[in-house]
Amino acid sequence: MNGAKKVAVLKGGPSLERQVSLRSGAHAQEALVRLGHEVVALDVGPELVPELRARQPDAAFIALHGRDGEDGTVQALMEAIGIPYTGSGPAACARCTDKVLAKYLMREAGVPTLEFHFLREESIRHLGAAAAVADIEARLGFPLVVKPASQGSALGVKFARSSEELPGAMVGAFSYDGNIPIERYAKGRDLAVSVLDGAADGAAASAPPGREGGAARGAPFALPVVEAVPREEAFYDYESRYQIGMTTFACPAELDAHTAARAQELALEVYGLLGCHGVARVDLMLGPDGGELWVLETNVVPGLTETSLLPQAADAAGIGFDELIARVLASAWTR
Ligand SMILES: Nc1ncnc2c1ncn2[C@@H]1O[C@H](COP(=O)(O)OP(=O)(O)O)[C@@H](O)[C@H]1O
Ligand SMILES: [Mg+2]
Repeated sequence: MNGAKKVAVLKGGPSLERQVSLRSGAHAQEALVRLGHEVVALDVGPELVPELRARQPDAAFIALHGRDGEDGTVQALMEAIGIPYTGSGPAACARCTDKVLAKYLMREAGVPTLEFHFLREESIRHLGAAAAVADIEARLGFPLVVKPASQGSALGVKFARSSEELPGAMVGAFSYDGNIPIERYAKGRDLAVSVLDGAADGAAASAPPGREGGAARGAPFALPVVEAVPREEAFYDYESRYQIGMTTFACPAELDAHTAARAQELALEVYGLLGCHGVARVDLMLGPDGGELWVLETNVVPGLTETSLLPQAADAAGIGFDELIARVLASAWTR
């Protein structure tokens, strides 16, 4: 095949989302092989940089979820060692991974996001922040949602229905991260809109190894809206999200045209606001009255497993899995 590359697929690693990442990586690898590329599969660990140096790939395909792989650490490392890599750069990764920072940026830009306050664990010890919790309760009302600022896959997301439940929820979220947003609860529907950069001018696939900015980046566009519908009454948690059958997906989501277009418009706005590149998935909630939309968060390395939302959305747009992977790979050369 023309433009065949040696592609290192970075997956696994020590993050709490290791298992999902291994599945995303394996799935991407199969597509890369079908596309004619040479794949070097790397389970990320202390030997990552020496391994990359030894194998000299043309690009790194980042299939890491969670810490290091999604927060800009690995991206910065790829820049340090001069390996083109897929997806967003270090700053965008940092902005998206930190839900508190992302929410402040969205609030400043006028993007609807659920009302929240930010608490840091240390400020409870050092600044008497515990005394502010009652003010937060009064301002936001119950139920409240507490989550670690930087986790994915609903890990550590806790709900509190009363003052009695809040400390426990906070301790739970703090066990993942010293920073937590305390957010107003929205009863509603769980939507996700993935955004892809438009096809590059075709030069991306044949850009010479190591050449950066070799191809023009196409304008980003939003894929059809996906709705995740938990089968059980219970909250859409880590297990239900990843075990086949516990969550059903509607893609495209059953929405009126105006709401679907608005969700896509918001996702594109956030993608630009946070400086994403190549691909991202924006999670939103749709209020019970069917009108109001709020952006929850942006994922810079969306899942690529068989049940993940991005591949389903791409498929609904007529973009098969291999084409999706080809487009994400191309983002390594359009920075
Ligand atoms: N404020 C909220 N109100 C209601 N449900 C929420 C709220 N925040 C999160 N959730 C639920 O928790 C899930 C995970 O939250 P999210 O902010 O997307 O974090 P992550 O996916 O990174 O764990 C959401 O998809 C949604 O179902
Ligand atoms: Mg989410």
